[in-house]
Amino acid sequence: MRAIVISGYGNPDKLELREMPRPVIADHEVLVEVHAAALNPVDAKIRAGKMWPLLTYKMPLILGNDIAGIVSETGKRVTRFRPGDRVFATLDKRRLGAFAEAVAVSEEYLAPVPAHLSFAEAAALPLVGLTVYQALQLVNFQPGQKVFIKAGAGGIGTFAIPYAKSRGAYVATTTSTANMGWVSKLGADLVIDYKKDRFEDLLSGYDIVLDSVDGEDVCRGLQILKPGGHLIALAGPPDAKFAHAFGANLFVQLACAALSWRETITAAMKGIHYHFLFVYPSGEQLRDIAQMVEQGAWKPVVDRVFAMDDMKAAFSYLEVGRAKGKVILSVK
Ligand SMILES: NC(=O)c1ccc[n+]([C@@H]2O[C@H](COP(=O)([O-])OP(=O)(O)OC[C@H]3O[C@@H](n4cnc5c(N)ncnc54)[C@H](OP(=O)(O)O)[C@@H]3O)[C@@H](O)[C@H]2O)c1
Repeated sequence: MRAIVISGYGNPDKLELREMPRPVIADHEVLVEVHAAALNPVDAKIRAGKMWPLLTYKMPLILGNDIAGIVSETGKRVTRFRPGDRVFATLDKRRLGAFAEAVAVSEEYLAPVPAHLSFAEAAALPLVGLTVYQALQLVNFQPGQKVFIKAGAGGIGTFAIPYAKSRGAYVATTTSTANMGWVSKLGADLVIDYKKDRFEDLLSGYDIVLDSVDGEDVCRGLQILKPGGHLIALAGPPDAKFAHAFGANLFVQLACAALSWRETITAAMKGIHYHFLFVYPSGEQLRDIAQMVEQGAWKPVVDRVFAMDDMKAAFSYLEVGRAKGKVILSVK
């Protein structure tokens, strides 16, 4: 089968489209013929070796986290899926492989694709949808709470805004001048142009900050939260609590504690909870999300679709950091 593979970490030039053996499924797994896969910033970080030492991989490695496709084979212990079912999932970060014509996926990670979504639209959902779902669950979100979602135009933002609104949040977000009108249509109560204004000068008394901007000082978000509020960092820095729960060794736990000491201490001094969240796969949660999507809570925002042969252009486009919604790979 054709797959997008790396044999060592590095820039997009490391990407190869080549023949790889088709996966053999275990008893609890399903073989999915991949029709579409989504690119996520984490795919670029893994390719570049930035997730080491949290995630280490054997080479050659088939990249990719998000899939949508059709079940072609099921393991002996699989009970919920049959050949021909339209399914989608985000994969386990320790066992990637979405950017390939077929992938073996644990039954536990899969959910049926909502009937009205194409494969490209469905692939846009799992990783960002589960991240936002798990973030709100982590902080026991309640309707009526004020949620600040940074980067409204990105993959996370374009899911998080309508999803949080559908669950009864008051939502503020940021975007660049060019995207102001477009992001407003996603339903946020307040859209801030980060090219003109600093959000911390305009916002206060927030319950939750969802921070997903690489390289921006996470502590800025602490300024708008009320005591008892929660800052959920998605782009880092990871903290020791997360590293421990992830099963990382003591060295990595200490390294994470050192990386996040400033955020953790500043938050604690203000009576705010600092969390680093790393999304995990869950078919059960994806079913919940799919149900909300079927009720109209989210419309897919697909920015560009690339062919597998254009994988280098797809990664380069994603890594510029200006994608509006999701970047998709068409596999079949
Ligand atoms: N920890 C986890 O489990 C997890 C899960 C998902 C994502 N993430 C991380 O979250 C980050 C975002 O992911 P994503 O999928 O949303 O990325 P993305 O789709 O590539 O984000 C691109 C968007 O970011 C916006 N942006 C860039 N700089 C900004 C700034 N300073 N302020 C506001 N908006 C800005 C851009 O909008 P403009 O063009 O308008 O600037 C663009 O639309 C990545 O670091 C990713 O790795 C982590």
